[in-house]
Amino acid sequence: MKRTAIKAAKEAGKIIMSYYSKNVNAVGKGSTYNLVTKADIASENKIISIIKSKFPGHSILTEESGEEIHKSDYCWVIDPLDGTNNFYHKFPMFCVSIALYKKGKPLIGVVYDPLKKELFYAGKNKGAFLNNKKIKVSGANKLSKSLLALGFYYERGSLMRKSLDQMKRFFYEDVHGIRRAGSAALDICYTACGRFDGYWELHLNPWDYAAGSLIVMEAGGRVTDTQGQKYSLMMKNIVASNGKIHKDMIRVLKK
Ligand code: IPD
Ligand code: CA
Ligand code: CA
Repeated sequence: MKRTAIKAAKEAGKIIMSYYSKNVNAVGKGSTYNLVTKADIASENKIISIIKSKFPGHSILTEESGEEIHKSDYCWVIDPLDGTNNFYHKFPMFCVSIALYKKGKPLIGVVYDPLKKELFYAGKNKGAFLNNKKIKVSGANKLSKSLLALGFYYERGSLMRKSLDQMKRFFYEDVHGIRRAGSAALDICYTACGRFDGYWELHLNPWDYAAGSLIVMEAGGRVTDTQGQKYSLMMKNIVASNGKIHKDMIRVLKK
């Protein structure tokens, strides 16, 4: 299963890169800034075909084509291109995210950045790796020593205002900085390998965080919702951190 997940992520990455240098069209789905391109669709088709050829009985949940439910304990949760806006604008921060869940619990997570050729991988109780090297979260134990990341959902109303208020409150805690890099899966993996100390976002979908969450947990970090409730694929508002600043992040987010 690990091999299939990695193979699917790398093949999908190749497809994405084949579109990267071309000027692909993007159409809005639901809103004008929630984009989908040919690369999203081609990547998703490739991943699904690789998984189905090996595990035809498994359930699959993907961003672009929805759910295919089978009577199985296993479910693949897939974002074929996380960071579509970045990809479209040629901002070099996007990835493929593939997770395998068993009875609702994470078993495998793979996040692949095809531009930087960075493959993040974790297996349940097997640790987390970046290009086969073990990774762990940072040692920062205070917000005032932290570099944070956040994301914004495709909504420009109350949710956006709430995120901006939260961002302001973190700045008042004297964080080193806050980045909005545009790929939730990579933000979480960057937390797993210590490039960020913590990340939060309101209103995510399971495919955005299903793989990254296992990777950061296996790297020694923590993932909960923004109220501190324990991790599940039903969560919408997510905090992933190195663990050491988790309580402080929740305190600021709850205010
Ligand atoms: C988006 C990215 C972005 C996050 C959005 C996601 P997409 O995923 O992860 O960073 O802020 O909430 O929807 O649409 O590019 O797959
Ligand atoms: Ca996504
Ligand atoms: Ca996507």
